[in-house]
Amino acid sequence: MKDGGQRQYGPLGKALVIIPTYNEAENIKPIVDRVRAAVPAADVLVADDNSPDGTGKIADEIAAEDPRVHVLHRKGKEGLGAAYLAGFRWGIERDYGVLVEMDADGSHQPEELPRLLTALKNADLVLGSRWVPGGRVVNWPKSRQFISRGGSTYSRILLDLPLRDITGGYRAFRRETLEGLGLDSVASQGYCFQVDLARRTVEAGYHVVEVPITFVEREVGDSKMSRDILVEALWRVTGWGIGARTNKLLGRKPS
Ligand code: GDD
Ligand code: MN
Repeated sequence: MKDGGQRQYGPLGKALVIIPTYNEAENIKPIVDRVRAAVPAADVLVADDNSPDGTGKIADEIAAEDPRVHVLHRKGKEGLGAAYLAGFRWGIERDYGVLVEMDADGSHQPEELPRLLTALKNADLVLGSRWVPGGRVVNWPKSRQFISRGGSTYSRILLDLPLRDITGGYRAFRRETLEGLGLDSVASQGYCFQVDLARRTVEAGYHVVEVPITFVEREVGDSKMSRDILVEALWRVTGWGIGARTNKLLGRKPS
Protein backbone atom coordinates (compact mmCIF):
# COMPACT_ATOMS: atom_id res chain seq x y z
CA MET A 1 0.00 0.00 0.00
CA LYS A 2 1.24 3.51 -0.77
CA ASP A 3 -0.49 6.13 1.30
CA GLY A 4 2.03 8.86 1.76
CA GLY A 5 4.02 7.91 4.80
CA GLN A 6 1.26 6.70 7.12
CA ARG A 7 2.18 3.08 6.72
CA GLN A 8 4.79 0.90 8.38
CA TYR A 9 7.94 0.38 6.35
CA GLY A 10 9.78 -2.91 6.21
CA PRO A 11 13.40 -3.14 7.33
CA LEU A 12 16.01 -1.84 4.89
CA GLY A 13 17.83 -4.63 3.10
CA LYS A 14 21.42 -4.55 2.01
CA ALA A 15 22.46 -1.41 0.08
CA LEU A 16 24.16 -1.20 -3.32
CA VAL A 17 25.77 2.13 -4.20
CA ILE A 18 25.76 2.50 -7.99
CA ILE A 19 28.39 4.85 -9.39
CA PRO A 20 28.12 5.55 -13.15
CA THR A 21 31.42 6.51 -14.72
CA TYR A 22 32.65 8.01 -17.93
CA ASN A 23 36.28 9.19 -17.80
CA GLU A 24 36.66 9.34 -14.04
CA ALA A 25 40.08 7.69 -13.78
CA GLU A 26 41.37 10.05 -11.11
CA ASN A 27 38.13 10.07 -9.14
CA ILE A 28 37.11 6.42 -9.00
CA LYS A 29 39.51 5.12 -6.35
CA PRO A 30 38.97 8.01 -3.90
CA ILE A 31 35.17 7.83 -4.20
CA VAL A 32 35.01 4.05 -3.74
CA ASP A 33 37.31 4.31 -0.72
CA ARG A 34 35.11 7.00 0.80
CA VAL A 35 31.94 4.96 0.28
CA ARG A 36 33.51 1.88 1.81
CA ALA A 37 34.66 3.91 4.83
CA ALA A 38 31.39 5.81 5.32
CA VAL A 39 29.04 2.82 4.90
CA PRO A 40 31.07 -0.37 5.36
CA ALA A 41 27.98 -2.59 5.09
CA ALA A 42 27.14 -1.37 1.58
CA ASP A 43 28.35 -2.86 -1.68
CA VAL A 44 29.50 -0.73 -4.61
CA LEU A 45 28.75 -1.19 -8.31
CA VAL A 46 30.72 0.89 -10.79
CA ALA A 47 28.78 1.15 -14.07
CA ASP A 48 31.39 2.16 -16.62
CA ASP A 49 30.66 3.00 -20.27
CA ASN A 50 34.00 1.74 -21.57
CA SER A 51 35.74 4.99 -20.58
CA PRO A 52 38.63 5.78 -22.93
CA ASP A 53 40.73 6.94 -19.93
CA GLY A 54 40.75 3.44 -18.41
CA THR A 55 38.35 4.04 -15.50
CA GLY A 56 36.92 0.54 -16.02
CA LYS A 57 40.31 -1.10 -15.64
CA ILE A 58 41.05 0.82 -12.44
CA ALA A 59 37.64 -0.23 -11.12
CA ASP A 60 38.50 -3.87 -11.93
CA GLU A 61 41.69 -3.54 -9.92
CA ILE A 62 39.77 -2.18 -6.93
CA ALA A 63 37.20 -4.97 -7.27
CA ALA A 64 39.93 -7.62 -7.36
CA GLU A 65 41.05 -6.48 -3.90
CA ASP A 66 37.64 -5.93 -2.35
CA PRO A 67 34.77 -8.44 -2.66
CA ARG A 68 32.24 -5.71 -1.90
CA VAL A 69 33.14 -3.79 -5.05
CA HIS A 70 31.70 -4.85 -8.42
CA VAL A 71 32.06 -3.52 -11.95
CA LEU A 72 29.52 -3.48 -14.75
CA HIS A 73 31.26 -2.94 -18.08
CA ARG A 74 29.07 -1.43 -20.75
CA LYS A 75 29.84 -1.25 -24.46
CA GLY A 76 30.14 2.49 -24.89
CA LYS A 77 28.79 5.88 -23.85
CA GLU A 78 25.01 5.52 -23.70
CA GLY A 79 24.19 8.14 -21.08
CA LEU A 80 23.68 8.29 -17.37
CA GLY A 81 20.12 6.95 -17.57
CA ALA A 82 21.05 3.77 -19.41
CA ALA A 83 23.95 3.11 -17.01
CA TYR A 84 21.67 3.47 -13.98
CA LEU A 85 18.98 1.26 -15.49
CA ALA A 86 21.56 -1.48 -16.07
CA GLY A 87 22.88 -0.97 -12.54
CA PHE A 88 19.40 -1.18 -11.01
CA ARG A 89 18.70 -4.41 -12.89
CA TRP A 90 22.02 -5.84 -11.74
CA GLY A 91 21.18 -5.01 -8.11
CA ILE A 92 17.56 -6.15 -8.21
CA GLU A 93 18.62 -9.51 -9.68
CA ARG A 94 20.98 -9.91 -6.75
CA ASP A 95 18.40 -9.11 -4.09
CA TYR A 96 19.72 -5.81 -2.78
CA GLY A 97 17.09 -4.01 -0.71
CA VAL A 98 18.34 -0.46 -1.30
CA LEU A 99 19.77 1.05 -4.50
CA VAL A 100 21.73 4.28 -4.20
CA GLU A 101 22.67 6.70 -7.01
CA MET A 102 25.94 8.61 -6.55
CA ASP A 103 28.21 10.58 -8.90
CA ALA A 104 31.85 9.50 -9.12
CA ASP A 105 33.37 12.96 -8.91
CA GLY A 106 32.93 13.67 -5.20
CA SER A 107 29.99 16.04 -5.66
CA HIS A 108 27.86 13.65 -3.62
CA GLN A 109 29.67 13.15 -0.33
CA PRO A 110 29.58 9.52 0.84
CA GLU A 111 29.83 10.81 4.42
CA GLU A 112 26.26 12.09 4.02
CA LEU A 113 24.90 8.71 2.90
CA PRO A 114 24.08 7.45 6.42
CA ARG A 115 21.63 10.38 6.75
CA LEU A 116 19.94 9.45 3.47
CA LEU A 117 19.66 5.82 4.56
CA THR A 118 18.20 6.78 7.94
CA ALA A 119 15.52 8.83 6.17
CA LEU A 120 14.76 5.88 3.88
CA LYS A 121 13.57 3.90 6.91
CA ASN A 122 10.34 5.91 6.61
CA ALA A 123 10.22 6.62 2.89
CA ASP A 124 10.10 4.92 -0.50
CA LEU A 125 12.65 7.28 -2.05
CA VAL A 126 15.07 9.76 -0.49
CA LEU A 127 16.46 12.64 -2.55
CA GLY A 128 19.66 14.35 -1.52
CA SER A 129 18.57 17.95 -2.04
CA ARG A 130 20.55 21.11 -2.69
CA TRP A 131 17.49 23.31 -2.71
CA VAL A 132 15.84 22.61 0.66
CA PRO A 133 16.80 24.52 3.84
CA GLY A 134 20.21 23.26 4.95
CA GLY A 135 21.17 22.18 1.43
CA ARG A 136 24.07 23.94 -0.32
CA VAL A 137 26.34 23.91 -3.32
CA VAL A 138 30.07 24.59 -3.09
CA ASN A 139 32.15 25.92 -6.02
CA TRP A 140 29.37 25.52 -8.55
CA PRO A 141 29.46 28.21 -11.22
CA LYS A 142 26.47 30.56 -11.22
CA SER A 143 25.60 29.31 -14.72
CA ARG A 144 25.16 25.71 -13.48
CA GLN A 145 23.21 26.83 -10.44
CA PHE A 146 20.91 28.71 -12.75
CA ILE A 147 20.35 25.68 -14.99
CA SER A 148 19.79 23.38 -12.04
CA ARG A 149 17.42 25.65 -10.13
CA GLY A 150 15.66 26.60 -13.36
CA GLY A 151 15.32 22.95 -14.36
CA SER A 152 13.90 22.03 -10.97
CA THR A 153 11.45 24.94 -10.98
CA TYR A 154 10.31 24.25 -14.55
CA SER A 155 9.80 20.57 -13.77
CA ARG A 156 8.08 21.27 -10.45
CA ILE A 157 5.52 23.59 -12.02
CA LEU A 158 4.96 21.80 -15.30
CA LEU A 159 4.80 18.33 -13.77
CA ASP A 160 3.13 19.49 -10.55
CA LEU A 161 5.70 17.78 -8.34
CA PRO A 162 6.03 18.72 -4.65
CA LEU A 163 9.84 18.53 -4.78
CA ARG A 164 12.65 21.12 -4.66
CA ASP A 165 15.60 19.25 -6.22
CA ILE A 166 14.16 17.23 -9.08
CA THR A 167 17.30 16.94 -11.21
CA GLY A 168 19.71 15.88 -8.47
CA GLY A 169 21.54 12.61 -8.70
CA TYR A 170 22.14 11.63 -5.05
CA ARG A 171 19.30 9.29 -4.15
CA ALA A 172 18.35 6.16 -2.26
CA PHE A 173 15.52 3.94 -3.48
CA ARG A 174 13.93 0.98 -1.83
CA ARG A 175 14.02 -1.85 -4.36
CA GLU A 176 10.22 -2.19 -4.17
CA THR A 177 9.92 1.41 -5.33
CA LEU A 178 12.04 0.79 -8.41
CA GLU A 179 10.09 -2.39 -9.10
CA GLY A 180 6.90 -0.33 -9.11
CA LEU A 181 8.08 2.29 -11.62
CA GLY A 182 7.97 0.32 -14.86
CA LEU A 183 11.66 0.81 -15.59
CA ASP A 184 11.36 -1.04 -18.91
CA SER A 185 9.57 1.96 -20.40
CA VAL A 186 12.17 4.57 -19.33
CA ALA A 187 13.71 6.11 -22.45
CA SER A 188 15.54 9.06 -20.86
CA GLN A 189 19.25 8.93 -21.55
CA GLY A 190 20.86 11.99 -20.01
CA TYR A 191 20.29 13.85 -16.77
CA CYS A 192 16.53 14.10 -17.40
CA PHE A 193 16.55 10.48 -16.27
CA GLN A 194 16.53 11.95 -12.76
CA VAL A 195 13.42 14.02 -13.47
CA ASP A 196 11.80 10.99 -15.11
CA LEU A 197 12.29 8.75 -12.06
CA ALA A 198 11.19 11.47 -9.62
CA ARG A 199 8.00 12.03 -11.59
CA ARG A 200 7.26 8.31 -11.90
CA THR A 201 7.79 7.84 -8.16
CA VAL A 202 5.41 10.65 -7.20
CA GLU A 203 2.80 9.61 -9.78
CA ALA A 204 2.87 6.02 -8.49
CA GLY A 205 1.94 7.37 -5.05
CA TYR A 206 5.20 6.63 -3.28
CA HIS A 207 6.45 8.68 -0.34
CA VAL A 208 9.45 10.84 -1.28
CA VAL A 209 11.57 12.63 1.35
CA GLU A 210 14.17 15.32 0.59
CA VAL A 211 17.23 15.47 2.82
CA PRO A 212 19.57 18.49 2.61
CA ILE A 213 23.02 17.81 1.15
CA THR A 214 26.13 19.82 0.44
CA PHE A 215 26.96 19.36 -3.25
CA VAL A 216 30.65 19.97 -3.89
CA GLU A 217 31.69 20.68 -7.48
CA ARG A 218 34.31 18.29 -8.83
CA GLU A 219 37.97 19.26 -8.59
CA VAL A 220 39.24 16.74 -11.12
CA GLY A 221 37.96 15.78 -14.59
CA ASP A 222 35.14 17.29 -16.61
CA SER A 223 31.37 17.45 -16.31
CA LYS A 224 29.55 15.51 -19.03
CA MET A 225 26.76 18.06 -19.14
CA SER A 226 26.21 19.08 -22.76
CA ARG A 227 23.84 20.95 -25.01
CA ASP A 228 22.32 17.64 -26.14
CA ILE A 229 21.62 16.65 -22.53
CA LEU A 230 19.90 19.99 -21.88
CA VAL A 231 17.85 19.78 -25.06
CA GLU A 232 16.73 16.22 -24.28
CA ALA A 233 15.68 17.33 -20.77
CA LEU A 234 13.75 20.31 -22.08
CA TRP A 235 11.76 18.44 -24.71
CA ARG A 236 11.05 15.41 -22.56
CA VAL A 237 9.93 17.40 -19.50
CA THR A 238 7.75 19.60 -21.70
CA GLY A 239 6.25 16.51 -23.33
CA TRP A 240 5.50 14.87 -19.97
CA GLY A 241 3.90 18.10 -18.78
CA ILE A 242 1.66 18.39 -21.82
CA GLY A 243 0.77 14.69 -21.55
CA ALA A 244 -0.16 14.97 -17.87
CA ARG A 245 -2.28 18.07 -18.46
CA THR A 246 -4.08 16.48 -21.41
CA ASN A 247 -4.85 13.39 -19.34
CA LYS A 248 -6.23 15.58 -16.57
CA LEU A 249 -8.46 17.44 -19.00
CA LEU A 250 -9.73 14.17 -20.41
CA GLY A 251 -10.16 12.71 -16.93
CA ARG A 252 -7.63 9.94 -17.52
CA LYS A 253 -5.21 8.44 -15.00
CA PRO A 254 -1.48 9.18 -15.52
CA SER A 255 -0.03 6.80 -18.09
N1 GDD B 1 28.30 5.30 -17.36
C1 GDD B 1 28.10 6.60 -17.66
N2 GDD B 1 27.69 6.94 -18.92
N3 GDD B 1 28.32 7.54 -16.71
C2 GDD B 1 28.10 8.83 -17.03
C3 GDD B 1 27.67 9.25 -18.30
C4 GDD B 1 27.46 8.24 -19.30
O1 GDD B 1 27.10 8.49 -20.45
N4 GDD B 1 27.55 10.61 -18.29
C5 GDD B 1 27.89 11.01 -17.04
N5 GDD B 1 28.23 9.95 -16.29
C6 GDD B 1 28.66 9.92 -14.88
C7 GDD B 1 29.88 10.76 -14.59
O2 GDD B 1 31.08 10.06 -14.82
C8 GDD B 1 29.64 11.09 -13.11
O3 GDD B 1 30.05 10.06 -12.27
C9 GDD B 1 28.12 11.22 -13.02
O4 GDD B 1 27.61 10.48 -14.14
C10 GDD B 1 27.62 12.68 -13.11
O5 GDD B 1 28.18 13.30 -14.25
P1 GDD B 1 28.75 14.79 -14.21
O6 GDD B 1 29.16 15.12 -15.58
O7 GDD B 1 29.72 14.96 -13.09
O8 GDD B 1 27.41 15.58 -13.82
P2 GDD B 1 27.29 17.08 -13.41
O9 GDD B 1 28.15 17.39 -12.24
O10 GDD B 1 27.43 17.92 -14.61
O11 GDD B 1 25.76 17.06 -12.98
C11 GDD B 1 25.27 16.81 -11.68
O12 GDD B 1 24.13 17.57 -11.58
C12 GDD B 1 23.08 17.18 -12.45
C13 GDD B 1 22.02 18.20 -12.35
O13 GDD B 1 21.63 18.39 -11.04
C14 GDD B 1 24.90 15.39 -11.40
O14 GDD B 1 24.59 15.28 -10.01
C15 GDD B 1 23.71 14.89 -12.20
O15 GDD B 1 23.32 13.60 -11.72
C16 GDD B 1 22.59 15.81 -12.06
O16 GDD B 1 21.47 15.43 -12.87
MN1 MN C 1 29.71 16.30 -11.45
